[in-house]
Amino acid sequence: MALDVKDLRYRLPGNGRALIEGISFSVGAGDTLVLLGRSGAGKTTTLKLVNRLLVPTGGVVTIAGEPATAAPETALRRRIGYVIQEVGLFPHFSVAANVGLLPRLEQWPGDRIARRVRELLTLVGLDPDTFGARLPHELSGGQRQRVGVARALALDPPLLLLDEPFGALDPITRLELQREFRTLAARLAKAMVFVTHDVREGLLLGTRIGLLDAGRLAFLGTPDEFRASALPAVRQFMEAA
Ligand SMILES: Nc1ncnc2c1ncn2[C@@H]1O[C@H](COP(=O)(O)OP(=O)(O)O)[C@@H](O)[C@H]1O
Ligand SMILES: [Mg+2]
Repeated sequence: MALDVKDLRYRLPGNGRALIEGISFSVGAGDTLVLLGRSGAGKTTTLKLVNRLLVPTGGVVTIAGEPATAAPETALRRRIGYVIQEVGLFPHFSVAANVGLLPRLEQWPGDRIARRVRELLTLVGLDPDTFGARLPHELSGGQRQRVGVARALALDPPLLLLDEPFGALDPITRLELQREFRTLAARLAKAMVFVTHDVREGLLLGTRIGLLDAGRLAFLGTPDEFRASALPAVRQFMEAA
């Protein structure tokens, strides 16, 4: 499995309040696990525990067969692409420089970086000649989000974590990016964890659905099983959507 999470737990260092209470799931190549949940359910915390922005207080995270604690954090993050809602592009770097950031840190030769950047921008639907030299503020929100995805893919990681990547976009752009993402995900066949509070988005993009509720996984199954589930937590979430 690309990602294996067993009995993951997290307590706040200060007051010891439990934010994540025993979550288990695994994600294989070609799978998109959608983590659904209300605001505050623990979705972002779960992703941060997977890529060690936070250190779990219990449980085991295994990435491509290796415990996440076995490798230094830098090596771990090379194997995990991370996309967040605010994108986090460097404002004074061109689009090409943003996408080529990790390959540059890995000291790839310049011509290899340039080729990879062109390939990635094309992959996410941005013409490299038009967009490569632009600065992030010269892009639309949807275009910035595409650059964020391209950057996360730069080192070809087996695992991609996406935290409400389309959350800040207008409804039409959002729909467009959801459709394209579906195609891209099928084509790349990576293991993905996609966080959203939007049940329609989740059911469109997920090959499996996990419902997080107050730090616990209340449901884990296929989109069809989710739709048919009689679990109160699932019914409530569907009805509120
Ligand atoms: N550093 C922190 N200190 C205190 N509470 C936190 C911290 N980070 C997250 N929380 C709390 O943990 C819960 C889960 O947060 P989060 O994982 O960001 O939820 P989600 O991404 O599902 O909206 C929330 O109740 C949030 O307020
Ligand atoms: Mg969040």
